[in-house]
Amino acid sequence: MASTNGKIEVANGHAHGSSLDVDHITTQLKKVGLSQPPTFPGVQLSQEYNPVDIYRAYIIEQIHHITGAEPAIINNAVAWTQDLKHGDLVLPVPALRLKGKKPDELATEIADKFDCPIVEKPIADKTFVRFFFKPGPLASLTLNYTLKQNAQYGFNPLLGLEDPSKPDGKRKRMIVEYSSPNIAKEFHTGHLRSTIIGGFMVKLYSAAGWETISMDYLGDWGKQYGMLSQGFEKYGSEAELERDPIKHLNEVYVKINQDNAEEQKEAKKLAERKDELEKTKNPPKPMKPKKGKENEAVPAVKWSEEQESELKDATAQLEKVQEELVAKPSIDEKARQFFKRMSDGDQEALKYWQKFRDLSIEAYKHMYARLSIAFDDYSGESTVKLEDMEKAAGVLQERGVSEDSKGAVIVDLAKHGAPKLGKTLVKKRDGTSLYLTRDIAANYERYEKYHFDHMIYVVASQQDVHLAQFFKILQLMGSPYSEVVAKCEHISFGMVKDPKGQTMSTRKGTVVSLSDSLDAAKEFMHGVMRKNEDKYQQVQDPEATADLLAISAIMVQDYAGKMINGYNFDMDRMTSFEGDTGPYLQYSHARVCSMARKAKVPREALENADFTLITAKEGVELVRALAQWPDVFLNTYKTREPVTVLTYLFRMTHMLSSCYDAKDVGNKNAKTMSVMYADSEEKKAALMGLYEAARQVLGNGMRLLGLKPVERM
Ligand code: ARG
Repeated sequence: MASTNGKIEVANGHAHGSSLDVDHITTQLKKVGLSQPPTFPGVQLSQEYNPVDIYRAYIIEQIHHITGAEPAIINNAVAWTQDLKHGDLVLPVPALRLKGKKPDELATEIADKFDCPIVEKPIADKTFVRFFFKPGPLASLTLNYTLKQNAQYGFNPLLGLEDPSKPDGKRKRMIVEYSSPNIAKEFHTGHLRSTIIGGFMVKLYSAAGWETISMDYLGDWGKQYGMLSQGFEKYGSEAELERDPIKHLNEVYVKINQDNAEEQKEAKKLAERKDELEKTKNPPKPMKPKKGKENEAVPAVKWSEEQESELKDATAQLEKVQEELVAKPSIDEKARQFFKRMSDGDQEALKYWQKFRDLSIEAYKHMYARLSIAFDDYSGESTVKLEDMEKAAGVLQERGVSEDSKGAVIVDLAKHGAPKLGKTLVKKRDGTSLYLTRDIAANYERYEKYHFDHMIYVVASQQDVHLAQFFKILQLMGSPYSEVVAKCEHISFGMVKDPKGQTMSTRKGTVVSLSDSLDAAKEFMHGVMRKNEDKYQQVQDPEATADLLAISAIMVQDYAGKMINGYNFDMDRMTSFEGDTGPYLQYSHARVCSMARKAKVPREALENADFTLITAKEGVELVRALAQWPDVFLNTYKTREPVTVLTYLFRMTHMLSSCYDAKDVGNKNAKTMSVMYADSEEKKAALMGLYEAARQVLGNGMRLLGLKPVERM
């Protein structure tokens, strides 16, 4: 492993795992009369990272012995459980794919013959065999793993290796493109979601040992920058720009757009009228006649001569107005010309643009830091090279993918086997590029720069068609473009709406700007903290803590469902301490920290505690949940859904909180799991070790999600 500092840096860094030393595991196992866990060729177990893999090894050995099934098949068949009442591991017998015996009979046979000193006698339940781990050894093993591996427990840096059998070998490289806001336009909730989800992907793959690169692909090119530069000449202020670039550029952009809309009003009206008339003249044909009406004639369109002359009029007027606008030149026309000059590298035209970009990036960086995110590469639409777009255009033409259309270049994807993707413009008449063209060229540029093994685009579902179009075009372009795009993937996500489920829009004035919502959530959390005067006094930097709580609230709300589902941005609900919220996770973390400060058990005592002293049912359950964390991580690596982690963390913290109130069976008044009232130093150390391990797992899960756990609140 690259590093042995015992730390995993999932905070946007790269994961280097140092494994638990094997001697330590062996010592633990010797105590229960077991030697080194067996290994099997072709079966990849990570016993140094995952205590449950030790159990898997013995289970595979025994089942192989009893049934003759292949170790690799057994390994695939044995599954972890979402609900511990179904066992710590479960074997669905039919998954062994053995011929001859009936699965339920075989289940009984396995349960009867199975014998392992760290596993209870298995339960045959119809065609399942359920394995329950013995509490004493499980507690010793799991808590030792957790307290030795600390911030690394649960993660598995072998997953990102090119060759998993060579731990020191090359790691695979991943680019995650996310956030990607547009300079001058609002950093809206779509960008926020992309930022949060992309940040999670980077942390997930880092913790799995991949080498990750965070890329921000700024919307910093296109006609709108011709618009913005004009607007800045008219409305801009250098001082305002320096002070709050994002806000100021947005204001300028809104103003110049209003002027533009005013100017285009007449043309827009005429265009709408023309459209309407054309639709009356040629109504869109129904796809299929209604059932039973197949033979009825489609009613003839009523179209009078008056209408015909009105249409001619509208068309002529529109053309005239449009010509006048170009001749004026209008704001829109000036923007087009401005952008053309920018594209041609005219320094005068590029004067403002560079400054807007630099200042905006500075401002974004502050915002990203609040979310524990840092980018390795600020690319953007402006950085895509003209020559690469030209090259791509050449390939498109040569290979017959694109065609000319009235001086512009289009790709008709319907002709290339993708009817749903329609026709798309790849080059405008004036030769300037488009959003799509830039994405096509950027894809290969990134490969030339990074030679990635995989690249993920985290972009909202509104752009599903755009992504599908440019992936398809790259595929049609053939080698080497098609090979690179085969390594690429779009991770899509649903829309954020207001608390009433309405879409938010700038026009309606319902868009909450990101910094405003972060600030509002922070103020709210600050208010909550102030209510407990004593505690509040002890928080070192209440402002910073309130900010962390607010960010947790927003992120956890985002992660609460599958990514593809949208949700309603609901400040009241997400900042609540009740229910499954970010503040609740933070509270659970801070509570153990507070307990540790009071209990003052030295670290060494925790690490050497006798964990077999944890016998209360609640404590045993918590240990079992902590043992599952590495499997939860593995499963998350498969689902790539933050909710997989979140669901586990809530389940685990609920178990943790049950421990606080656990009552003694004999003495209903005594809190058997209370560290402060433990009846011996040994018991105290064991309990505190358990709580500390739970805190560690909670913290690891939170960091994987991009939350910074707080110690006081
Ligand atoms: N800037 C774009 C927007 O805000 C998102 C960019 C997504 N990434 C891409 N490679 N097209 O709509």
